[in-house]
Amino acid sequence: MPYAIEVDNLSKTFTGKREVRALDGVSFTVEEGTVFGLLGPNGSGKTTAVRILTTILRPDSGTARVLGHDVVKKGGLVRSLIGLAGQYAAVDENLTGRENLVMVGNLNHLSRSYVGGRANDLLEQFNLADAGDRPLKTYSGGMRRRLDLAAALVARPTVLFLDEPTTGLDPQSRNDLWEVIESLVGGGTTVLLTTQYLEEADRLANTLAVLDHGHVIAEGTPATMKADLGATVLEVGLPNLEDARRTGAVLDTLGPHSSIVNGTFAEVTVDNGPEAAMLGLRALDREGIVPTAFTLREPSLDDVFLSLTGHRTVEEAEKQQDDGTTRRRRRVRAAEEALPIATGEFS
Ligand SMILES: Nc1ncnc2c1ncn2[C@@H]1O[C@H](COP(=O)(O)OP(=O)(O)OP(=O)(O)O)[C@@H](O)[C@H]1O
Ligand SMILES: [Mg+2]
Repeated sequence: MPYAIEVDNLSKTFTGKREVRALDGVSFTVEEGTVFGLLGPNGSGKTTAVRILTTILRPDSGTARVLGHDVVKKGGLVRSLIGLAGQYAAVDENLTGRENLVMVGNLNHLSRSYVGGRANDLLEQFNLADAGDRPLKTYSGGMRRRLDLAAALVARPTVLFLDEPTTGLDPQSRNDLWEVIESLVGGGTTVLLTTQYLEEADRLANTLAVLDHGHVIAEGTPATMKADLGATVLEVGLPNLEDARRTGAVLDTLGPHSSIVNGTFAEVTVDNGPEAAMLGLRALDREGIVPTAFTLREPSLDDVFLSLTGHRTVEEAEKQQDDGTTRRRRRVRAAEEALPIATGEFS
C-alpha cells in the first residue's frame, strides 16, 4: 500500500533563551486511508511534527513527504492537499461560524458557489446549523472545536492533520467527533492525529508512534503494543494514603517489577497473575491491611504509555487526582501558546 506520509530522520531545534531539541531524528510512515496516532507527554514534539508536516515550520534536517511531495520543496502543493485542525482553534472570534468557513474556502481559492454549499453541509454535519450565523465568541468550547474541524474539511483534503482534536470536549462531543473521523477514513481520507487520550488512540488509530523528548520510543498497532507489555497488572485500592504506601511496599516483594502508588491506589505488573494475587492477598492480610478493591487486569494502552515514558497520560492523571490543577494548567498553557495558524504561512 502506498504511503500518504513519510517522515525520515526529522530534526528541529528551537533556539532562544533555552535551546530545545523538539524533534531528534524522528521517522515514521503512514499508509493511505489509515489513521496514525502520534502519542506523547506534554512537550514531546507532537505539535512540532504536525507543524512541519503542514508546512508551517521548516525542519532543520531530515525529510517529510505528504502524498509523495516534499513539504519544504513543494509547500504550496502540499497545502492544497491537506487539512489541519490545530491544537488551539484557528478561527476568528468576531466572524460567524459560516463566515469562518467561507473565509477558509476563499483562502483556498475555491469558487464562491461551491464554498456556500460546502459551508451549509459542514454546519449541518457538525450539528452547528442553528448556530451558523452567530459570532464565534458566543460558541462553547465544544462548538469551537467542531467548527475548527469543519474548517479543516472545507477543501475536502486527502490527508487530514488533527492536533489533539478532542481535548476539552465532553464525552458525547468526543464520541461524535470520533464518528466523523471514522466516516472520513471510510471514504479514503488519511488522518494523522495527536492525542493524549489513550482511549482515543485505541479506538481510532491503526498504527501508533509514541514520542518522548523528540524521539520515537515505540511504534506499532495498539494491540501489539499492549501485547508487548505482556504482563498482568495487579491493582489494589486502599481506604487511605498510608495503607496505599504500605501496600506499595508489599507489592514490591511479589516480583521483579516496582510498584506504583498513586493516591489511594497501588499497582504492580506481575508475570504470573493468579499466583501473585494469592501471594499478595496473604501478605496484605499478614500486615493487617484490608483493601477496598483488588483487581487483576490486562494491561491498557495507558500502562504501555506509563512503562514507556514514566508518566501517566493526562486523562488518567485527571481521573486519579481530580482536584482541577491539571485542567487549570492546561488552560493557562493554551492561552499562552496559542498557535496563530490562520494568520501564519498556512492558508
Ligand atoms: N516556537 C517555539 N519556540 C521555542 N520552543 C518551542 C516552540 N515550539 C515548541 N517549543 C518547545 O519544543 C518542545 C516540543 O513542543 P511541542 O509543542 O511540539 O510538544 P507537544 O508534544 O505538542 O506538547 P503538548 O502535549 O503540550 O501539546 C517543547 O519543549 C516546547 O516548549
Ligand atoms: Mg502539542
